[in-house]
Amino acid sequence: MSEHNIESTLHEDRHFPPHADFIKKTSITTEKLTALYKSAEIDNQAFWADQARTELDWQTPFKTTLDSSNAPFYRWFPDGKLNASYNCLDRQLAQNADKTAIIFEGDAGDVQHISYRELHTRVCTFANALKAQGISKGDRVIIYMPMIAEAVIAMQACARIGAIHSVVFGGFSASSLKDRIEDTTAKLVITADGGHRGGKIIQLKSTTDTALESGCDSVEKVIVFKRTGHDIAMQAGRDIWWSDAEQDQNAECEPVWVEATHPLFILYTSGSTGKPKGIQHSTGGYLLNAITSMRWVFDIQPSDVFWCTADVGWITGHSYVAYGPLATGATIVIFEGVPTYPDAGRFWDMCQRHQVSIFYTAPTAIRALMKAGADIPNSYDLSTLRLLGTVGEPINPEAWMWYHTVIGKEKCPVVDTWWQTETGAHMIAPVPSVTVTKPGSCTRALPGIDAALVNQEGIEITEANQGGYLVIRQPWPSMVQTVWGDDQRYKDSYWPYFDGKYYLAGDSARRDEEGYFWIMGRIDDVLNVSGHRLGTMEIESALVAHPRVAESAVVGKPHDIKGEAVVAFVVLNGDRPDGGIDEALTEELRTWVGEQIGAIAKPDEIRYSDNLPKTRSGKIMRRLLRNIAKGEEITQDTSTLENESILPQLEGKA
Ligand code: PRX
Repeated sequence: MSEHNIESTLHEDRHFPPHADFIKKTSITTEKLTALYKSAEIDNQAFWADQARTELDWQTPFKTTLDSSNAPFYRWFPDGKLNASYNCLDRQLAQNADKTAIIFEGDAGDVQHISYRELHTRVCTFANALKAQGISKGDRVIIYMPMIAEAVIAMQACARIGAIHSVVFGGFSASSLKDRIEDTTAKLVITADGGHRGGKIIQLKSTTDTALESGCDSVEKVIVFKRTGHDIAMQAGRDIWWSDAEQDQNAECEPVWVEATHPLFILYTSGSTGKPKGIQHSTGGYLLNAITSMRWVFDIQPSDVFWCTADVGWITGHSYVAYGPLATGATIVIFEGVPTYPDAGRFWDMCQRHQVSIFYTAPTAIRALMKAGADIPNSYDLSTLRLLGTVGEPINPEAWMWYHTVIGKEKCPVVDTWWQTETGAHMIAPVPSVTVTKPGSCTRALPGIDAALVNQEGIEITEANQGGYLVIRQPWPSMVQTVWGDDQRYKDSYWPYFDGKYYLAGDSARRDEEGYFWIMGRIDDVLNVSGHRLGTMEIESALVAHPRVAESAVVGKPHDIKGEAVVAFVVLNGDRPDGGIDEALTEELRTWVGEQIGAIAKPDEIRYSDNLPKTRSGKIMRRLLRNIAKGEEITQDTSTLENESILPQLEGKA
């Protein structure tokens, strides 16, 4: 950690109290929120136990709230049993069976409404189909689907029978898919022939075939949903159409009651070293915080139409598409396509047509739509919107203000929610009926969440605007349980300092005079591209796997829309191209990285040099490379470089 100087430069002092119209409708009053904070402060475990009894239906009620005997492997509600799918679906049947659970809109504009009753039937039928394929409690199932209702049905069906799902984002390559299949030793893959995105077909089945050709011996069956209808190969004995798998299956499926600590899912995320980590989440604790955050941060009401634009391939799509909103009986929107197809009005057109009241998206999307101009959103009726949210990366105040004024017409609070794949649910975020928001700040920790800033010794930083390491000092229900199959990596990644007492988020932040948190960025070698985490090491490994590449170093540089752009410094086997330019090779390497990881990881820029700048001990001088990528003046001591002539090469000037 010592390499990093944490300095904060952002100054922003605009304040936005909640709008009176919003307060009128809320169920979270200032008094109620104060009481929640107070009871969490008095007894954190009793507070969560109380929430868990109120918010979840248990088949076997828990007696123990938290088992810390094997910290940091905390076990919440360990002797309780429940089922996540039951808590999402069956609970709605008595009162809300005919309520719309899902409004699905396809890329081409096709719309389906699915009621809670129908969703229950479809999940049960598919759960029975999974059982018929030999899937039972604890088996891992990979879901590699387009963003369609069936992706959520597949997740819920796994949850219903205690199978552990691992959703792989449809934009990931065959090689990334294979890594995840092999790490989970999944028995079954659920995919589709393809999906539609921006008028194009995304090949999913053929990518799955490529992944399976090269290994993945654990996979016995592949269930294929027919979405596009284009020709694909089906392998006899292994591949089954979804509709055939469902043939003759019963529409009732008794949930399998699992321990609260039973893994609900594994979701892979990038770290600073090695391959992506399989973040393992529990059933009870995870679902609890997905629900409490729906209430506190999204103020969810029975009449809301809730649209979180994230794909189910990311944690946001787990907590705020597949689980949290359904467990609170909401109506959700699921969208297959992209915000700019057929034009940059797509989101606003959908908000108008589906009468969306809560809209949750990423700063990168806001910045892209902001560039398209205010006339586009201004031509739609956005009056049903009452709350706006953002997630994934720091939102710059300019984009926050645009969102607030142009989309929210100054009446919708904006909730900037800080959390991570590992935290499972919102940790630091405004409670929109109470919190005075400030553009660019995720404000305060939620009730029961003990977030703090500490210095390298683990001592709390109390001075205002002083940067520090963001930590969470007490366990919380939806916390990561471990890294799948690698307990040591879990310990090393999240509990490496402070005697293993505090969860290290990997972000730096500051707190202002009023105690509001301002996230400053990552402290490790992780990039945040369009709100998605990418390990620099992962991209470097992909590059050096190419026969022409001897060595590479990857850093981020600020990007107007994506937040960060990927810049790769590459040393080739053999000669450096003349003047450092070889467009054909650059394109080849970009495509290669796309194939190895996925399109989001493609470097925006590749610079070739004779070697990489290293310290005497042989470590790559990453800070220097970051400065160079940003075009900043070089202030570091470069006298240790073997060959100072590489500096102009790294700068792209020679
Ligand atoms: O750096 C923080 C940033 O995204 C990281 C978590 O990434 P991931 O696990 O992919 O989850 C993204 C969706 C929850 C964090 O360590 N981050 C997330 N939300 C914010 C943020 N940075 C600033 N402000 C946020 N609201």
